[in-house]
Amino acid sequence: MKIVIIGATGTLGKKVAEAFAQKHEVIRVGNTSGDVQVDITDETSIKAMFEKIGEFDALISTSGKAPFAPLNQMTGEVFKSGLLDKLLGQVNLVLIGQHYISKGGSFSLISGILSDHPVAAGAALSTVNGGLNAFVIAAAPELDNGIRLNVISPNVVEDSPAYFDSFPGEIPVTMDKVVKAFEKSVFGIVSGQVIKVF
Ligand SMILES: NC(=O)c1ccc[n+]([C@@H]2O[C@H](COP(=O)([O-])OP(=O)(O)OC[C@H]3O[C@@H](n4cnc5c(N)ncnc54)[C@H](OP(=O)(O)O)[C@@H]3O)[C@@H](O)[C@H]2O)c1
Repeated sequence: MKIVIIGATGTLGKKVAEAFAQKHEVIRVGNTSGDVQVDITDETSIKAMFEKIGEFDALISTSGKAPFAPLNQMTGEVFKSGLLDKLLGQVNLVLIGQHYISKGGSFSLISGILSDHPVAAGAALSTVNGGLNAFVIAAAPELDNGIRLNVISPNVVEDSPAYFDSFPGEIPVTMDKVVKAFEKSVFGIVSGQVIKVF
């Protein structure tokens, strides 16, 4: 399979790319690094990336940012940056990518635990993650040509110790579990699913 991984140079993406590259052709995409560069906040940049890569069988996204800020310091502008980046950026990977993906291909996006288990200062990221989950449930049945769409929603991962204090009471998940969730989405038959990794 030809598998495009957006965010392949990041904490999650590196491990996911390593695992998938053992048996498949992996195109590693980053913002400033990787085989190909893209800015998911820019539709022109996303189109240019797909034109460069050509037809592919699966797209995995482990990218997207949203701000952390206490609610009494949050502004609409700051909140919007998360909507435009992690939420709309990944939505656009599907909206634009559906015209480049091969028949029977799959999209696997990334959300996260905060949609269900909030933490302090996380309202923007919780909203973004919930929006991504809802998008996948609603959009997957409308995709043509047997194309599937899922979203992986992990707890904080073992490779991100800097986040542990922000997730009190949560037990970090192994990267192996995150990789397995992406494998279920890419090689399995499910679509329209929020695949939770706890
Ligand atoms: N870490 C966790 O514990 C955890 C848990 C659950 C969910 N998540 C979610 O998983 C995703 C990845 O997290 P991470 O910790 O792996 O992040 P990370 O280490 O910061 O990696 C981010 C990756 O995305 C790329 N990227 C950044 N901005 C981009 C843009 N505008 N367009 C395209 N690519 C861009 C980066 O490329 P460059 O390196 O080239 O800049 C990098 O490859 C995030 O959405 C996060 O919310 C993370």
